[in-house]
Amino acid sequence: MCGIVGGVAERNISEILIEGLKRLEYRGYDSAGLALINEQQVLRERRVGKVVNLEDAVRTQNLSGNLGIAHTRWATHGKPSEVNAHPHISGKVAIVHNGIIENYAEIKAELEALGYQFSSQTDTEVVAHLIAEALKTQATLFDAVQQIVPRLKGAFALGVIHADYPDELIAVRENSPLVIGVGIGEHFIGSDQLALLPITNRFIYLEEGDIARLTRTNVEIFAHGTNRIERPIKELDAAVSHASKGEYKHFMLKEIYEQPEALQQTISQALNGNRLRDDFLSHAEQDFSNIDQIQIIACGTSYHAGMIAKYWSEQLIDLPCQVEIASEFRYRSPVIMNRTLYLCISQSGETADSLAALRDTQKRAKAKDLNITTMAICNVATSSMVRETDYHLLTLAGPEIGVASTKAFTTQLAALILLILKIGTAKQRLDEAEIDCIVKGLWHCPKVLSETLQHNQEILRLSELFVEKQHCLFLGRGTLYPIALEGALKLKEISYIHAEGYAAGELKHGPLALVDNDMPVVILAPQDSMLDKLKSNMEEVQARGGELFIFADENSGIVEKDRQHVVKIPHISAWLAPIVYSIPVQLLSYHVAVLRGTDVDQPRNLAKSVTVE
Ligand code: F6R
Repeated sequence: MCGIVGGVAERNISEILIEGLKRLEYRGYDSAGLALINEQQVLRERRVGKVVNLEDAVRTQNLSGNLGIAHTRWATHGKPSEVNAHPHISGKVAIVHNGIIENYAEIKAELEALGYQFSSQTDTEVVAHLIAEALKTQATLFDAVQQIVPRLKGAFALGVIHADYPDELIAVRENSPLVIGVGIGEHFIGSDQLALLPITNRFIYLEEGDIARLTRTNVEIFAHGTNRIERPIKELDAAVSHASKGEYKHFMLKEIYEQPEALQQTISQALNGNRLRDDFLSHAEQDFSNIDQIQIIACGTSYHAGMIAKYWSEQLIDLPCQVEIASEFRYRSPVIMNRTLYLCISQSGETADSLAALRDTQKRAKAKDLNITTMAICNVATSSMVRETDYHLLTLAGPEIGVASTKAFTTQLAALILLILKIGTAKQRLDEAEIDCIVKGLWHCPKVLSETLQHNQEILRLSELFVEKQHCLFLGRGTLYPIALEGALKLKEISYIHAEGYAAGELKHGPLALVDNDMPVVILAPQDSMLDKLKSNMEEVQARGGELFIFADENSGIVEKDRQHVVKIPHISAWLAPIVYSIPVQLLSYHVAVLRGTDVDQPRNLAKSVTVE
């Protein structure tokens, strides 16, 4: 997804902007550009492809400036090309933009009638021309931006500079993330704080509707674009600031291996010995005791985590739980239910559909005077989702850079089971023995994850058998059904092999028709009450010539035979099996992708944080 970096300083900031863009590369993009103000001129460079192409151009031409904006673009309107890359310029104005201007066509027609010529197919260019036009009547650059922002419909973040304002950077946040980095005698903007971490750990988080005017020495913020407001400066701790691949070939592999530690961190915040800590979500206890049901809203991998929580909520604490994809939920006018916990799950906390679903729910509950509770399970403490919900529970996975979610997912699962235990306790639906059993299992889980990771070489060998395949099926039952979906998602997104996840019981209702000699079928077989039924499903596949790749509990009795490969997974209680069985499907997808030579950390067409619809 697009990335913005900008700054105003006493020193030359071209290198800082390029470094910032590099730190946003993981989000996925197709072109990059930068504009600097130098001696009352706008200097601009744009390149298709990687940031390093832009860096070479900037170095060769020795471009420098104390004021500048830079951008990585992920095409929405207009194909990836140099003319469509940002910054866009109109006269002395240069802008970068994340998000979408929904009414750009109408504004474009109006501007064309006024004689403006468009050099790109983007929605962004209208904003540059609108500002240039407003400057004909407005006294300052800030006034011009303030005047045109209410005309723009959609979700957007903007960075604006002007050749005649050498000490001024204007920033706009409207439903697309943007932070201000506070340096010493210098200020920066970034669509993700990660871009600015080499220069500062002090941030101001803009709110929706804010317009900010940054100079070297000052920041002025205007809520809703008009009312001067002070927003606090927050200091990040140093641990957040580290993001490097270290000894690993890819971020994804590093993040897969970080899971035991990430899980340990996530559960430690909630547990004291074999009990929940007294202060764990204690401020939410009253609200939790009053809920009659849970509605989970999420996208992609986070949605799969939500699907597993449904099993836990209904089986462990007898609490109804619905799960829905945010992009559907937000548009189908769902009935907003009283006494309900609306739970958003998101790694980034900035996913456009999940945020829109949350905000819409809050608005509609308020209009009907309903008593709802909102909560986020999220990996980014400073995200919009965390700030806008009543309660939150952080997954302490650390920054996840690989586009494919791995450690964020397993820590979401840990957070979800802890939340279910907490709600069950608040509603007095769990006794000490039940809690004790699950908590013991949770403490044991990091060790089991580490042992499972030791099967890496075995899984690598199996992955060689997938390289030439076109299709693949993943099957599981109960809480392993969402892991089958997750395995299929992982494989398709990073190796580009078409994969489907199914509840194994559905096999006969259609997908069995796909099974032949050439169809690998991955089976998730923990030691649970459904194991015998799953074994029958495996026989159905074998009878049709399908090749089985089984991740099976070491005590399951499932053994290797012709066209049946088995990786033995250490025993884990059925409740926690989905956490452990995530590991082999992640490793399998990773190795298949590496063998196929795809861009594992930045798969084609995908972005890490989907901040537009
Ligand atoms: C897949 C993946 C995506 C995300 C989805 C939601 O590996 O990472 O499916 O899970 O885009 O993102 P968050 O969790 O940030 O809301």
